Amino acid sequence: MSKTIVITGGAGFIGSHVVRLFVTRYPDYSIVNLDALTYAGNLANLADIENSANYHFEKVNILDTDALKALFAKYQPDGVIHLAAESHVDRSIMSPLDFVYTNIIGTVNLLNTARDAWKGKEEGKRFYHISTDEVYGALGDTGFFTETTRYDPHSPYSASKASSDHFVRAYGDTYGLPVVISNCSNNYGPNHFPEKLIPLFIHNIIERKPLPVYGDGHYTRDWLYVIDHAAAIDLIFHKGVAHSTYNIGGFNEWKNIDLVKLLCQLMDVKLGRPAGDSEQLITYVKDRPGHDRRYAIDASKINEELGWKPSVTFEQGLELTIDWYLANTEWLKQVTSGEYQHYYEQQYTKREQ
Ligand code: NAD
Ligand code: DAU
Repeated sequence: MSKTIVITGGAGFIGSHVVRLFVTRYPDYSIVNLDALTYAGNLANLADIENSANYHFEKVNILDTDALKALFAKYQPDGVIHLAAESHVDRSIMSPLDFVYTNIIGTVNLLNTARDAWKGKEEGKRFYHISTDEVYGALGDTGFFTETTRYDPHSPYSASKASSDHFVRAYGDTYGLPVVISNCSNNYGPNHFPEKLIPLFIHNIIERKPLPVYGDGHYTRDWLYVIDHAAAIDLIFHKGVAHSTYNIGGFNEWKNIDLVKLLCQLMDVKLGRPAGDSEQLITYVKDRPGHDRRYAIDASKINEELGWKPSVTFEQGLELTIDWYLANTEWLKQVTSGEYQHYYEQQYTKREQ
């Protein structure tokens, strides 16, 4: 059946993989990529599918309510997959209000637009909000986040995502908007902006720059290959139960320092450098304030209800990721020029002490 779906944040890291999957897998669908093209949005991520007949790009900011209304009037979408957000914890510590505007107010603008456009015609519609495991706060050495874990965000980023999740559920309860939410663990893969741990460290290893490990390096994250997240989003969009929540994770916990050492080893082989070369770049720096100690997702609900599980091991995914960055040095050069230099200076120069 043909559908029109608006994917917000489709020029970003995860969004571009979701757009590509939907454009190529569902030729009968019309896919509208709504993106403001902030520093994190990059149409080069979609160069391979930009001429597809079922793909449309609209440069729209979710803070612009008139533009949202006009876009809904133009395309009459059946579904929204909402990924547009400010997504980096460290930037949220520098500029929390940007996160309040885009992640909370922008999400409410989108909810209002969908509610008004779909009033009395909710049958067959779907508003799918993409969220994060960070809303659940931090775990100790044991245990997992489930769909019923109490919200306990610690950073301005996770607080803004928690707030947006509450608004999405409230619009489901109050206005009968057919909403669904997923909360995912740390993604990695091609097109990841080099402000996040894995792509930042790949870039710095290539450039032989210090690898700034926050605090003692014993913080733990649960890593998922981005293509597997996109596959989970496809399943939840089509088969997930309305008004419910799905946790998505990689069953793949790594302490930061162990992950960084593995990355260094793999990069030394790929770059033809002597074993142990890149590890010498590891530099312990001042910790991130409010740093969550450990995240780990219990993804049994999506596994049992929808049959989803990750398709690649971490070693396979990491190798694919490194190969992509080494083959796309122009992409890296483009995204690390300009504003990035200023961000890097602010974030790291004073930290190396
Ligand atoms: P990203 O920062 O790479 O991309 C965000 C995209 O949103 C960019 O294309 C940007 O231009 C766009 N955008 C930002 N503000 C906008 C605005 N006001 N109006 C319209 N577009 C705007 O983010 P990502 O890592 O791909 O994350 C996508 C979503 O997934 C976010 O909602 C994030 O919270 C969530 N998430 C991310 C991860 C992860 O590990 N990256 C894990 C779980 C959930
Ligand atoms: O858990 C899902 C979340 O994962 C997403 O919602 C966020 O959008 C995404 O950015 C990510 O958040 P994290 O803060 O976990 O990711 P980041 O890559 O920034 O950091 C991963 C870990 O590495 C974290 O413990 C902090 C540490 N770190 C990070 C950077 C950038 C360092 O030690 N040094 C660094 O320079």
